[in-house]
Formats: sequence, structure tokens, C-alpha cells
Amino acid sequence: MSLAFKKLLCVAVLLCGNVYGSPMNYTLDDTSPAINYTQAPLLRCAPGICDAPWTARLFQGTSATTAAPIVVPFTGSAVYVYLGTLGTCMFALDGVVVGAYADGTSTSEAADIRLAYWATDLPDSAHVLTIYPAKEGQFVQLDYIIYTHASALRNAHLAAIISGVLGGGALVGLLSLAAFLVRRREKLRQISMRGIPLGDHWPDQPRLKLALNQKK
Ligand SMILES: *[C@@H]1O[C@H](CO)[C@@H](O)[C@H](O)[C@H]1NC(C)=O
Repeated sequence: MSLAFKKLLCVAVLLCGNVYGSPMNYTLDDTSPAINYTQAPLLRCAPGICDAPWTARLFQGTSATTAAPIVVPFTGSAVYVYLGTLGTCMFALDGVVVGAYADGTSTSEAADIRLAYWATDLPDSAHVLTIYPAKEGQFVQLDYIIYTHASALRNAHLAAIISGVLGGGALVGLLSLAAFLVRRREKLRQISMRGIPLGDHWPDQPRLKLALNQKK
């Protein structure tokens, strides 16, 4: 492979990286306003509310326990749900049931937080994830959700570059238009100085007007 070709390839890779963006992970804690609880959670664990050894294991020390559906809209190509359940927890993606998760233990306490559901290779677009207990009397303790989305930051960066280039182009265009107008005006002035009638274009120059009137 020649050096020039390698350089070209590097540039192409850099440019493509900017166009498509690289997938990034975003974490929604159970307290995130992006998470909709259809009923107020029965229990919200936080340091000082639940046992310290337990909150120490939770993402940002918090979890939400509920017996009602949790609705999470997100835009991304993958999603990972970390929760514990007492009973069976169901998962629906865009209105279709896609998974169920039951904890092996059957103690009276919601079991440990685990990666209970994940989906990858989704179209990187808007989705709605619904998490709900399978039956009455069952509970879900949501800790956090991760979703993967191609970085909007890089797209914004690219947009800035494009608008910068376009803006720069517009500026160059304006400057050359101004230069053209000035040059034309100069030329017209030269012509009118030679006494060629130009109509009423120079109302601010009475001497020219006078010259034109005399000719008539
Ligand atoms: C996002 O997080 C998941 C789960 O932790 C991980 O498997 C995946 O590799 C991460 N993806 C990126 C792009 O960081």
C-alpha cells in the first residue's frame, strides 16, 4: 500500500467517523426523569432510607420498587436493564413482549440486582421499553438502564464544521459581490464622466444631472 493511499484512507476513516458518529453508552438511573413510573414507586431506596450495605451496591445508591409498569422511551441501538425482581418481570419493546426474567430465589425480599434484559442490533432510532411485573403481588426493583446511541455530539460537531464551511463560503461570496459592485460603480462613474447619459441614477450628483439636461 502506498503512503499516499494510506494517508487518504486515514482521512476517509476520520471523515466517516464524523459522519456516522461512534456509539456511546448513556446511563439512566432509576431517578431519571426519562423513566416514567405509571404509579409512584412503593419504595425508593437511597442512602439513609435502605440499608447502607444494600445502597452501596446500587448505581448512585438508589433504586425504585414498583408493582406497576415502567415506561422508558429511548433512542438507541441497544438497551441493558439492571434490576431485581420478586416474581417474574416482563419486558416489551415497541409494544411487543420480548423477554421475561425470573429470579432463581423465592425469598420474600426482592432479589439481587442483575442484568435482567438486554437487546442489541436494534435500529438506532426511537424505541419504547416497558418493564412490568408478570402478576399481581410481584415487584420490580429498578436500579438503572443503559442504552447505546451513536453520539449526537459528533454529529453536532460535524454540523458546526459544515455550517462553518458554508458560512465561510457565504462570506467569500459576499465579499466578491461587494468588490464586483464597487468595481461596477467605478466603471459607471467613468462612463458617466465621459458624458454618456445614464438616466436618473445619480440624483446625488447635480453636476451630472445638469449635463444630462443640457443634452436634451
Ligand atoms: C455499553 O454497555 C454495555 C453493557 O455494559 C456493554 O456491553 C457495551 O459494550 C457498551 N457499549 C459501548 C459502546 O460502550
